[in-house]
Amino acid sequence: MFSVAIDGPAGAGKSTIAKAAAKELELIYVDTGAMYRTIGLACLDDGISPEDSKAVIEKLKSIVLELKYVDGEQRMILCGKDVSDDIRTERVSMTASVVSKIPEVRAFLLEQQRGFARSDNIIMDGRDIGTVVLPDAQVKIFLTASAESRAKRRTLQLEEKGIGADYDAILEDIRKRDYQDSHREIAPLKAAPDAVIVDTTELTLEGSIEAVIDTIRKGMSGK
Ligand code: DC
Repeated sequence: MFSVAIDGPAGAGKSTIAKAAAKELELIYVDTGAMYRTIGLACLDDGISPEDSKAVIEKLKSIVLELKYVDGEQRMILCGKDVSDDIRTERVSMTASVVSKIPEVRAFLLEQQRGFARSDNIIMDGRDIGTVVLPDAQVKIFLTASAESRAKRRTLQLEEKGIGADYDAILEDIRKRDYQDSHREIAPLKAAPDAVIVDTTELTLEGSIEAVIDTIRKGMSGK
């Protein structure tokens, strides 16, 4: 099996870029952030504070989490219900970032994530894929961009959807999530020593996709 690990901070374009690369290279795309988001949503739905580790761990016992592919798109199924759209709010983002600090939550998802790599050729994205989940991935990429350019892109995305967006608030959220994700004790966001760093601050989306596909192709041909 062939695995590509893509890690990086929130808003670096990982999922858009990984999806495009997966399509071009005929790999299955696995978005692990969506799995943390689904756990975050399950807690919010039950009125469980993400800071209350004990209650979150207890909640895990009743969580059945599945990934389904519909027209090549990953869908998240929580206890039989498709929650793929519900997990995309800012509130769920922040909750996911908090519950992802809990070792039991990470352990709960780890085996399922490794299982995908055993059964398919995949591109998996997240924060700890190259360092913890798939340390033997044939290609590791750390995709990053300045916090300001990530906030600017996010603001534009929301404005295009007709949703009012406040650049300063978005930048603050991004900085907060970067801090939380890279300062937790277990599996913090960091580049694997053997990862190729792709900084997209100065690149267009097309340029970023090209850079990632190029890196993967080199890895596939063993260069
Ligand atoms: O990639 P994302 O924004 O959808 O991820 C949501 C949160 O989940 C992120 O802030 C941190 C956490 N996460 C993680 O801890 N490990 C991963 N492999 C993926 C996401």
